[in-house]
Amino acid sequence: MSTDSTPTPTDPTDEFPTAFLDVDDLSSEQLDAVLDRGTALKAGKDLTQLPRTTLAMLFEKPSTRTRTSFETGMTRLGGHAMFMGPDDIHLGHGEPLKDTARVFAGYADCIMARVFDHADVETIAEYADVPVINGLTDDAHPCQTLADLLTLREEVGDLSETTVAWVGDGNNVARSFALGCALAGVDLRVATPDGYGLGDDCLSRAADCGGAPTLCESPEAAVEGVDAVYTDVWVSMGEEDEREAKLPAFDGYQVNADLLSGTDAKLMHCLPAHRGEEVTDGVIESDRSLVWTQAENRMHAQNGLLVSLLD
Ligand code: CP
Ligand code: NVA
Repeated sequence: MSTDSTPTPTDPTDEFPTAFLDVDDLSSEQLDAVLDRGTALKAGKDLTQLPRTTLAMLFEKPSTRTRTSFETGMTRLGGHAMFMGPDDIHLGHGEPLKDTARVFAGYADCIMARVFDHADVETIAEYADVPVINGLTDDAHPCQTLADLLTLREEVGDLSETTVAWVGDGNNVARSFALGCALAGVDLRVATPDGYGLGDDCLSRAADCGGAPTLCESPEAAVEGVDAVYTDVWVSMGEEDEREAKLPAFDGYQVNADLLSGTDAKLMHCLPAHRGEEVTDGVIESDRSLVWTQAENRMHAQNGLLVSLLD
């Protein structure tokens, strides 16, 4: 990680934001505090409850983990989560999003949304006068980053001493992870094919958060000596039409036993995985794999976020 950027100024008295649309909505201290809270809730040392609290969940895209982790998480906290897909409400049939946002805010204490266009989650946050959480957009997946950092804390240790390689597409998961690593002091190396990098906006925001990742020439260069290697699908939800054009660029970017040989690196993947494309079945099923812990930690990390927003 470059060291010539000024670390994000943090002030413990900073008010917690009312929207979590990407990781850099938090200061590094707030991020740390959310992870601490997630750890304490997971361990049963923090018994905070959110009784009579409703989370409205809006999904334009499918989900296994995000839906179920928020729903079970709210149950654990003594609250309730309400699922709505695009065909369940008028949004999918012409009602403007800004109307939906204001109506939800009249019933629910918090809104979580998974939408295609990042501007849509910003619109929800603009019009709803309750906290809004981004459950994934084409640009960002900040809740995944919370779980990933919690997992690295548990499995590797001090985040400021941790090195991770991102290998593959510079997509929504990668961009939020880069911001989270910058805030938490994780040394991130990135290997992405030409044309599929993190993008200038993400790199400049990461630099503002305390350090942009090191961009590497190849997956082999990126994984050397790291604690963990992280990858995600090469074709994200909504990009299905780009599949044929995209795949050839990722030749050589698969995370497999060959790439990891000679390293002690753990494997990270947000799931769902396309085994045989970005990752092999062998490494997902190996002792290196942290993917099930990452998935479980979605719930604990998000509960840390929910109590920080709502308690
Ligand atoms: N990792 C993740 O967000 O998974 P889902 O798409 O199943 O929610
Ligand atoms: N990049 C993937 C992540 C899924 C959790 C997608 O957006 O489809």
